[in-house]
Amino acid sequence: MPEFPRTNRRFVLCSRPIGLPDDDSFEIETIEVAPPSGEELLIRVLIVALSPWQNQRLKDFKNYTNPFRIGELIDCDVLGQVIAGTAGNFAPGILVTGRLGWQEFAIARPEQLTAVTGEFADTLWLTALSSPGLTAYCAMDLFGRPMPGQTLVVTSAAGAVGGYAVQLGKMAGMRVVGIAGGREKCALVTERLGAHICLDHRQPVLSERLGEACPEGVHLLFDTVGGRTADTVFEHLAKHATVLIIGRTAANNSDRPDLDPVNMRQLWAREASIHCFSRYSYPERWAFARERMMQLCRDGAIHAVEQLVEGFERTPSALRDMLAGKYMGKVLVRYAHADK
Ligand SMILES: NC(=O)c1ccc[n+]([C@@H]2O[C@H](COP(=O)([O-])OP(=O)(O)OC[C@H]3O[C@@H](n4cnc5c(N)ncnc54)[C@H](OP(=O)(O)O)[C@@H]3O)[C@@H](O)[C@H]2O)c1
Repeated sequence: MPEFPRTNRRFVLCSRPIGLPDDDSFEIETIEVAPPSGEELLIRVLIVALSPWQNQRLKDFKNYTNPFRIGELIDCDVLGQVIAGTAGNFAPGILVTGRLGWQEFAIARPEQLTAVTGEFADTLWLTALSSPGLTAYCAMDLFGRPMPGQTLVVTSAAGAVGGYAVQLGKMAGMRVVGIAGGREKCALVTERLGAHICLDHRQPVLSERLGEACPEGVHLLFDTVGGRTADTVFEHLAKHATVLIIGRTAANNSDRPDLDPVNMRQLWAREASIHCFSRYSYPERWAFARERMMQLCRDGAIHAVEQLVEGFERTPSALRDMLAGKYMGKVLVRYAHADK
């Protein structure tokens, strides 16, 4: 085991961004590392997972969570390794996941942690077997009710959550139409994730192309971005379509999150149903969803897409680049390697 660390560097919120965050939105705080008490463990953070909700919480507007306070540690799911303390079933050397944030070391109690088994690649515990995979699985299972032969449209189809919705829809026998930004992302969505077609929302006449791709209309929309992209899809809904709202990345990223367009007239005209979904409302479903996703991973039926950025200092720029659409799949930042 390595020497006991003396200091911990952590990113805290410094100023609230307008639109996307930049390096000035955060500052690095260096604090002393205290030894864990009897019921605590000291964790070395190995990899942090970036998510659009982090940007949402940098801003102060009404949402489903509270904004970060100025000076507060930026929170997120991480993969880590216990380096000191013995509590619950945890001891030094064990790999864990938990919501421990953008910092090099964290003190945690056993109930905040999940043990990682060696059966899967470590990063899978932050992707298919964590929020991205479980959100897509629970939302599709509880409210999507995929029907073979019907048409599913997935926005941010090369994104962390969207990529799993594409694969689950395909597995259920749906005709899957992805929407993503750029040729490379569209190729990933069709060639690796199995969508029938993927439309680049950065190219003109999206509405026309969607109409051609969905001749029978859109029966199910799995939407993580909202904004103009979702409104365009609403123009092509089939009668009695279901719209599954998972996120509103476009509005949350914008400088006017209070102005969030919704083409309500088209929803009414198609007699569509809207289900707004938050995985936090269904904690009792996570164990089942994780078991199902584990089995799909064992069977090779699910592909995890992730991009790994190296280095603690690069965390803020990686978040900004992710929100600007630079990456595909789940964006992870490596802070350290595990000790063998
Ligand atoms: N309801 C829940 O329980 C739950 C759970 C997890 C996540 N979420 C939400 O679901 C959404 C997706 O999360 P994720 O982790 O999978 O992130 P993600 O989709 O991987 O987010 C990054 C992608 O968002 C797209 N994007 C960014 N700004 C956009 C805009 N203005 N218009 C269209 N697309 C834009 C970009 O893709 P392109 O380059 O393809 O445009 C970018 O690559 C987030 O809003 C998140 O808060 C909800």
